[in-house]
Amino acid sequence: FISKPVPGKYILVTGGAGYIGSHTVLELCKNGHDVVVVDNLCNSVEDSLKRVEIITGKKVPFHLVDVRDKENLNKIFDQYDFWAVIHFAGLKSVYESVQYPEKYMNNNVEGTRTLVECMIEHKVNNIVFSSSATLYGEPKNMDPLTEEADLGPINPYGESKLKAEQVITELFKEYEMGQACLLRYFNPIGADVSGLIGENPKDIPNNLLPYITQTLVGKLEYLRVFGNDYPTRDGTGVRDYVHVVDLADGHLAALEKLRENEEIRAGAKASLDERVLIYNMGTGTGYSVLEVVDSMNKASGKEVPYKITDRREGDAAQVVACPAKANKELKWYTRFDVNVMCADAWRWQSQNPDGYENPSQFVLDLL
Ligand code: NAD
Ligand code: WQD
Repeated sequence: FISKPVPGKYILVTGGAGYIGSHTVLELCKNGHDVVVVDNLCNSVEDSLKRVEIITGKKVPFHLVDVRDKENLNKIFDQYDFWAVIHFAGLKSVYESVQYPEKYMNNNVEGTRTLVECMIEHKVNNIVFSSSATLYGEPKNMDPLTEEADLGPINPYGESKLKAEQVITELFKEYEMGQACLLRYFNPIGADVSGLIGENPKDIPNNLLPYITQTLVGKLEYLRVFGNDYPTRDGTGVRDYVHVVDLADGHLAALEKLRENEEIRAGAKASLDERVLIYNMGTGTGYSVLEVVDSMNKASGKEVPYKITDRREGDAAQVVACPAKANKELKWYTRFDVNVMCADAWRWQSQNPDGYENPSQFVLDLL
C-alpha cells in the first residue's frame, strides 16, 4: 500500500513499541512518514523500535510516556506538529481483564479520553484507533461479520474497547471536530519478513499463535486445543487470522482515507457518521485451530504437540470478518494467507526464542 506523507508534519503512534504498533511504525517509515512514538513500555521493550530503525535506517523519536499522563502528553503535542494519531496504547488480555476490570477500564478508556482531549486542544484532527472484533461478543451465527453486526462484548476487555470507541465519537461530537477510523481487528498474527520484530508476550501467552510457536521452541510442553466439538469443518474453532503486515498497511490505508476526506471537505462541516468510520480488518477467510497447526508444521518442519481439551469459556465456534467495506472504501486488500503468516511467525520465534532478549547469532549479525 502506498501512503504519502504530509510534508513537515508528524504522525503520533501511541503504543508503537508493541506488536502491531512496531509493525505499523515500520510500514510508515518505509513510506517516508515522520513518526513519533509514545509508549509506557508496560507490555513491550524499546528494542522493537531500535530494530525498526535498523531495518529502515530512519530514526524513530521515542517518548516514555503514559497516555493517561496529560501533562507530559501535552508537552509532546507542543513539541511536534502532528497531522494524525494512531492509537494502539492499551491493555489486551481478555483473561487479565476478567481479574482486573477496573485496570482495563482505566487504561483503555481514560487513556483514550486523555489522548483525544490533547488532540482537540491542539487541533489535531485525525485518529486511527485499534478496536477489536471482540466487540461483537459471541456472534449469533457463523456468517462473516459486517460492521452492522450486533455489538455485545462478553468480557471487560471488550467493554473497555467499546467504551473507548464511544469516547472518541462523543468527544468529536461535542467539540464539532475530528475524524476517526475505528479499525476492528480480527486475529493478527505473523511478523515482518526480516525476522527482526514480532509478537513478544511477557507471560504465558493466551493467544493461539504465540502459544504454538513457544511450544515449538520448547518453552511450553504442548498446545491445548480448546474443544473439537464445534459445528465447524473439523470441530475446532475457526478464526480470521490476518497477517500483521497486512494489518499495518490497513492503518496506512485508513490515514489516506482521513486525509482524502479532509481535502474533499476543505473545512466544510460533515455529519458525525461521515467523520467517524468503522472498518472490520480481517481477510474474510477462516482457519480452524487444526488447520493453523498444520500450516505451522509445514512452516517449521516440526510437529506441534497438542491435546484436545474442553472448550474455553466464552469462545465462539467461528469468528470471521466480512472485509468488503474496508476493501471498497479504504482500497485495502490483504495479501498473505495462513501459510505465509505461519512461516513469518516461525522465522521471528525461531530466530528470537526469548523475544527481544538474548538475540541469536543470526539476529546479532543483522544488528
Ligand atoms: P501490545 O501489548 O504489544 O501493544 C500495546 C502497547 O501499548 C504496548 O507497547 C504497551 O506497552 C503500550 N501501552 C499500554 N498501555 C499504555 C498506556 N497507558 N500508555 C502508553 N502506552 C501503553 O499489543 P498489540 O497486540 O500490539 O495491540 C495493540 C492494540 O491493538 C491494543 O490496543 C489492542 O487492544 C488492540 N488489538 C489487538 C489485537 C491482538 O490480537 N493483538 C486484536 C484486536 C485489537
Ligand atoms: C484463537 C482460537 C481458541 C489458544 C482473542 C481476543 C480478541 C482479539 C484476538 C484483542 C480459538 C483456540 C487458543 C490455545 C486453542 N484480541 N485456542 N488453544 O479468542 O479468537 O481472540 O485474541 O482484541 O479480542 O478475544 O484468539 O488466539 O485466543 O484463540 O485451542 O491455547 O484458538 O479456542 O478458537 P480469540 P485466540
